[in-house]
Amino acid sequence: MNIQIVTLFPEMFEGVLGSSMLWKATDRGIAHYSYINLREFGLGPRKQVDDTPYGGGDGMLLKVEPLVAAIEVAKQNDPTATVILPTPRGKTYKQSEAKELAAADNGLIIVCPRYEGYDERVTQWVDRQYSIGSYVLTGGELPAMIIIDSIVRLLPGVLGGEMSTEIESYQDDDENIEFPQYTRPETFRDLRVPDVLLAGHHAEIDKWRKLHSRKA
Ligand code: 6GU
Repeated sequence: MNIQIVTLFPEMFEGVLGSSMLWKATDRGIAHYSYINLREFGLGPRKQVDDTPYGGGDGMLLKVEPLVAAIEVAKQNDPTATVILPTPRGKTYKQSEAKELAAADNGLIIVCPRYEGYDERVTQWVDRQYSIGSYVLTGGELPAMIIIDSIVRLLPGVLGGEMSTEIESYQDDDENIEFPQYTRPETFRDLRVPDVLLAGHHAEIDKWRKLHSRKA
């Protein structure tokens, strides 16, 4: 899966996409990440990417011309890619969206807004707008990383035997919440692992896990 990220801060992604499973996905040829620096599409000698809002108000907005120019370059690289805009104005991002995007196996173009927002006209070049929850962040980079993580881990060959995708949390939005798990030692400071998990009766273990599958 080819993932292009339009951002003013590509360095923010290094640690997250360069570590652990998201890195392994690239090492195995399953995912490829690239960056389009929005600054390169800024206007004039100062490469201006932001401007004051019509109608007044605090803060600066990302201008439409650099955003659309960057999206058009990304689209030239990958004409069938899905364009995603992380924004608090979007639909709440859920596991069902991650599954759908992973299954479609299209390229992705993720456009990360900054400052106090963006010129709304950019949404004409966007396929999907997602919010990741009810709180306000300083930009779209962290949401982009969350969206990428949730999709790439579902691509065939990424998790392998390292983690089961069948028994985990949030399998389907708010259904199927994970059960508690334990590893050695059996006793830690008087805290015992539940006996049923030590006994090896698989039917009983399944029953216990179903009973305890809920949000913490
Ligand atoms: Cl996608 N962006 C920003 N800036 N804040 C958010 C968000 C997105 N989702 C929740 N809060």
